[in-house]
Amino acid sequence: MKRKKLIVGNWKMNGARAAVAPLIEQVRVAAADSSGVEVALCVPFPFLETAERLLADSTLAWGAQDLSEHASGAHTGEVSAQMLKDFGCRYVIVGHSERRSDHGESDQLVLSKVRAALDQSLTPIICVGETLIERGADRTEEVVLSQVKAALEPLSPEERRRCVLAYEPVWAIGTGLSASPAQAEAVHATVRSWIATLDADLAADMRILYGGSVKPESASALFGQDDIDGGLIGGASLVASDFRAIIAAA
Ligand code: PGA
Repeated sequence: MKRKKLIVGNWKMNGARAAVAPLIEQVRVAAADSSGVEVALCVPFPFLETAERLLADSTLAWGAQDLSEHASGAHTGEVSAQMLKDFGCRYVIVGHSERRSDHGESDQLVLSKVRAALDQSLTPIICVGETLIERGADRTEEVVLSQVKAALEPLSPEERRRCVLAYEPVWAIGTGLSASPAQAEAVHATVRSWIATLDADLAADMRILYGGSVKPESASALFGQDDIDGGLIGGASLVASDFRAIIAAA
């Protein structure tokens, strides 16, 4: 099966109430002729209702950038998978490096969040990636594979099939320093080979996105790599013309 490319906008903590509807609308129009590519927007929680309202009749999916590992209860400030489901989310980003570093999210917590998402039939986009120090110490493969294993190994074969991976080198996120297509492809191929040791069919089908300073100029070469199945797009997803060019590149 040929893997369908997936382009996901990660707005992070950006956007203001008045600007959200126009931006979503522009992206909806920009993505209207993107047959063959799946497009999703992961917006801040307060904007999910607007996303649902504006995108319900479109080909675009929407989602959130985090969720609680708990199903419900006394967890002040948290948002559950069921709530995301109620607002029509298809995707949820899990274990983004900004959550791992700013909020101390461990591999174990990431796994709990992946399970919470799967329990509500949400598709977790599981983020992995090495820091610049780890890359400099030649530990990229070790770090990335240990994060991938921690998130996927404990799942059932059927659960693994419902996940998406995103390789995001920490040094490339928001820095303007994208990994080169060859650097990214090397990691994607390594991850896919490891998945093949679990399940060859899964390795062939699983989508592995690249994220980290993807721009209209760099998108085609990245998405042209054999094992890169789309992108997780931060900054450029906030500029409709850039996001449209990135979708077109896919
Ligand atoms: P960036 O962010 O495209 O702004 O580097 C990507 C991400 O963090 O998902």
